[in-house]
Amino acid sequence: MDKKWKIETAAVQGGYTPGNSEPRILPIYQSTTYKYNTCEEVAKLFDLQAPGHMYTRISNPTLEALEKKVAMMEGGIGAVATSSGQAATMISVMTICTVGEHLLASSTLYGGSFSLLKTTLSKMGIEVTFVDPELSLEELQSYIKPNTKAVFAETIGNPVLNILDFNKFETLAHSNNLPLIVDNTFPTPILCRPIEHGADIVIHSCTKYMDGHATSVGGMIVDSGRFNWENGKFPEMTTPDESYHGVVYVRDFKEAAYITKARVQLLRDMGATMSPFNGFLINLGIETLPVRMERHCKNALAVAQWLENHEKIEWVTYPGLKSHPTHDLATKYLPDGCSGVLAFGVKGGRTASEKMIDNLNMIALVVHVADTRSCVLHPASTTHRQLSEEEQIASGVKPDLIRFSVGLENIEDIIDDLKGALDKI
Ligand SMILES: Cc1ncc(COP(=O)(O)O)c(C=O)c1O
Repeated sequence: MDKKWKIETAAVQGGYTPGNSEPRILPIYQSTTYKYNTCEEVAKLFDLQAPGHMYTRISNPTLEALEKKVAMMEGGIGAVATSSGQAATMISVMTICTVGEHLLASSTLYGGSFSLLKTTLSKMGIEVTFVDPELSLEELQSYIKPNTKAVFAETIGNPVLNILDFNKFETLAHSNNLPLIVDNTFPTPILCRPIEHGADIVIHSCTKYMDGHATSVGGMIVDSGRFNWENGKFPEMTTPDESYHGVVYVRDFKEAAYITKARVQLLRDMGATMSPFNGFLINLGIETLPVRMERHCKNALAVAQWLENHEKIEWVTYPGLKSHPTHDLATKYLPDGCSGVLAFGVKGGRTASEKMIDNLNMIALVVHVADTRSCVLHPASTTHRQLSEEEQIASGVKPDLIRFSVGLENIEDIIDDLKGALDKI
């Protein structure tokens, strides 16, 4: 990225700079198709010898602006927008992993990512080992195999809310010549920029805080451009891609090898493209992301502290609380706040927790997190339902766990609603 703006400026101004008399606001290019003057020009595009848009499944000007903005905010060299966070996870792995290979992943992942890696990737012949991220470096090392191709983790695990020990995971990945892929959905680049802490690839569910208003499903993959794909482990990066007349990603695209392959091979073939309209809305959401994240963090910390002192609450987990097991890591990697999601259990177990959810008024029960409106969810019966009880425990999902996404409402109204619901138990 050429511009060295502060992140708040990049959120507002990044990615799109209109020329004289052009629209001030990023336009929605609702066009599948692009027009060319000659067959030669379009042929060059198809051989990846000239820049430009071929077809919206692969790229689009609205999405290009959004991609540039997110890459700028994360400190990457390029990005690819995808139809969902799930698609970002899938493509981030499939760009470098193939049948017969292996991925090492933290066990404390979002339930959908866990299922995707465990079930669908295994159907494609990619084996995934899930490891407790609290294990020591030596213990983690024992799970690396000769065919391991990447290490995968979340900055803030959803919903267990453990903070990633970047130092340990970066050492693990890089000492084995592997890229570290980090899902940075919960902190967003406002609170943590994984590339600054050694991550090679950063992914997002833009559906969450980036959109921030619960309007659009979308995802993003950002490339740091720093990983050395020529270390002998990634032949698909260094040998000709026959589907592009022998393009060699590292030779032809240098530091942009990974993100180019993700777009022109995986996005082209899987078709998991973000719609330009969703791209427009997500871009609009990002414009206010810095101010929203500040308030989400402030409200969440206040709620966590209030719950921690309530007699009917069994436990609260929020990395911003001193009592949190990874509070030290939070102080190190998320000094400006720990995002807006916390989890707690009500005394009386699962039944009491479910009852409390039913008693809430303003705070809605929805299958979502990370938008302006406060909302709750019971992961054991929803997002993590497809996991076995053992897997739920490994992902940190206790039966009584309520996941609470703290919104931007006045803190007094949020606490009033919580108090009313607890009073009735
Ligand atoms: C941390 C994390 N990663 C990925 C996803 C998947 O994103 P999407 O729902 O946009 O497919 C989610 C969804 O909740 C999530 O919380």
